[in-house]
Amino acid sequence: MLLKVALFLHIISAIFWIGGMLFLVAVVAPYLKTLSDPKDKAKIYQIVGTQYRKWGWVAIITLLVTGPVILYTLYGLPPSAIADPSLHASSWGRTLVTKLTLVAIIVISALVHDFWVGPRARNSPGFSKFARLFGRVNLILALLIVIFAVLLRAGGM
Ligand code: HEM
Repeated sequence: MLLKVALFLHIISAIFWIGGMLFLVAVVAPYLKTLSDPKDKAKIYQIVGTQYRKWGWVAIITLLVTGPVILYTLYGLPPSAIADPSLHASSWGRTLVTKLTLVAIIVISALVHDFWVGPRARNSPGFSKFARLFGRVNLILALLIVIFAVLLRAGGM
C-alpha cells in the first residue's frame, strides 16, 4: 500500500510541477506577448508565478520525500545505498545516480530562480531576461529527469 501511495504522489507531483512549467512557457508567455502594457505583463506574471511557485515547492518536497520511499519499498534500497560504489557499477545504479544528480541541480536552480532572480524580475529587464533563461533551463532539466525516471523503470540506460 505504501508503495502505491508513494508512486501515486510521486507521479502526480511530477505531472503538476513539470506540466506547470510547460504551461507557463507554452501558454502564459505567448499570451503575455499579446499585451501592450509592460506593467500588465509583469503583474500577471508575478501573480501566476507566485501562485505556481507555492504549489511547485509542495510538489518538489513531495518528490524528494516519496522518491526514497519508492526506492526502499520497490527495490529495498535505503537512501545510504545511493552512495555505495557497488550500485554505481550497474547500469541501473548509474541511471539512478544521474537522475538524482539532475534532481540536486534543479532544486538548487529552482531555489535561485524562485527566491532570488524571480522576485527581482518585476523591476529589472535584466533580471526578467535571467528569470526566463532559468525557467527554460529548469524545464529542460525536468524533462531530462523524467527521461531518466523512465530509463529506471526500463532497467537502466
Ligand atoms: C525532481 C524530482 C523528481 C522527478 C521529477 C521525478 C520523476 C519521476 C517519474 C515521472 C517517475 C515515474 C517513472 C516510472 O515509474 O515509470 C519516477 C519514478 C521513480 N522515482 Fe522519481 N522523480 C524525482 C525525484 C526522485 C528522487 C529524489 C528519488 C529517490 C531518492 C526518485 C526515485 C524514483 C524511483 C525509485 C522511481 C520508480 C522507478 C521505477 O518505476 O522503477 N525520484 N520519478
